[in-house]
Amino acid sequence: MTVPGAGDPAARGTRPGRLGVGVVGAGRVGAVLGCALRSVGHPVVAASGISAGSRDRIDALLPGVPVLEVPDVVERAELILLTVPDDALAPLVAGLAEVRAWQPGQLVLHTSGRYGTAVLAPARAAGAIPLAVHPAMTFTGTSLDLARLVGCCFAVTAPAPVLPIAQALVVELGGEPVVVAEEARPLYHAALAHGANHLVVLVAQAAQALTAAGVEDPGRVLGPLLGAALDGALRASSVTDGPGAIATLTGPVARGDVGTVVDHLAELTALAARDAALDVPEGYRALARSGTQRALAAGRLREDAAQALLDALTDPPPPPDGARPPGPAGTPGPASPPPRPPDTPEDPA
Ligand SMILES: NC(=O)c1ccc[n+]([C@@H]2O[C@H](COP(=O)([O-])OP(=O)(O)OC[C@H]3O[C@@H](n4cnc5c(N)ncnc54)[C@H](OP(=O)(O)O)[C@@H]3O)[C@@H](O)[C@H]2O)c1
Repeated sequence: MTVPGAGDPAARGTRPGRLGVGVVGAGRVGAVLGCALRSVGHPVVAASGISAGSRDRIDALLPGVPVLEVPDVVERAELILLTVPDDALAPLVAGLAEVRAWQPGQLVLHTSGRYGTAVLAPARAAGAIPLAVHPAMTFTGTSLDLARLVGCCFAVTAPAPVLPIAQALVVELGGEPVVVAEEARPLYHAALAHGANHLVVLVAQAAQALTAAGVEDPGRVLGPLLGAALDGALRASSVTDGPGAIATLTGPVARGDVGTVVDHLAELTALAARDAALDVPEGYRALARSGTQRALAAGRLREDAAQALLDALTDPPPPPDGARPPGPAGTPGPASPPPRPPDTPEDPA
């Protein structure tokens, strides 16, 4: 892969087609992708990062790489990884354009799931080549992530003539490129967040109910069951001419067992009152309604059985005026979102 006219030739690798990589933001993703690109022969010529966490990641994953100011990283590199928080991306690209940092022919790659390449417009206007490459993976920012890149899907979005560059980079990392259209990026990102993040919420709710039922190690009980359910649902999702994951639904909704569903709701409502876990019956109701409607649409439930389930799953009346519903597990209820703990790994989205 040769990019004419970009970067400091002295910084380029000695093998043909190698690119001098600059990592702008040696966070969890930047340090790991820089390390992975280095391991396939692309020299990392510079990285930026101010916090102790970024400096530690550079020491661990990019040893010997000079730590420079952002414009200096851009100046030296042929392939620039913009691995900064989503909200920092647009102002950063625009700010670098204002100081005329972008060079014609440079590859500028960001890893945000939410954006396509429009966010890189100021760099493109200066002649840089915009690439949006999002690994559908969660990163810890350690060497553990390197093996997970192999076989990982990466959403790639780029102008058609340069799309093969993004695809080739992903393949070099051992990943699988999946082309996502520019206008579909927000929906793609919402889908991943809904799947990955809300799976965690579901496990939290089920584990809380099991603990209340006296089960000492909820993770041990849930693990094999949820693993099998996830495995089956994912396999069915890959079959394009079938009803998808809903084909593998088991349990009372799939059987039309209204009495069992009513019992479940009574138990979970009692749990909500006892343990301030109102979100558990709410979550059960919402997902069981979806399950019913999807099972009906897939021909797995008769219409009368589906209607009986939906009647049992109607929302309870709202609490009296002024009463604030309790939040999960002993918290007083949602007032404002809790701050993100500093070292919580983000999700693929
Ligand atoms: N984490 C994941 O699992 C994951 C997975 C897929 C995609 N992504 C995407 O990858 C991107 C990076 O995420 P991340 O989790 O790696 O973030 P992160 O761990 O928070 O690291 C962000 C990095 O960007 C630097 N930075 C912050 N603001 C900056 C600015 N204005 N200018 C220059 N550098 C700046 C930080 O530097 P200092 O803190 O050192 O100052 C840090 O090195 C995001 O777009 C995210 O959506 C993340």
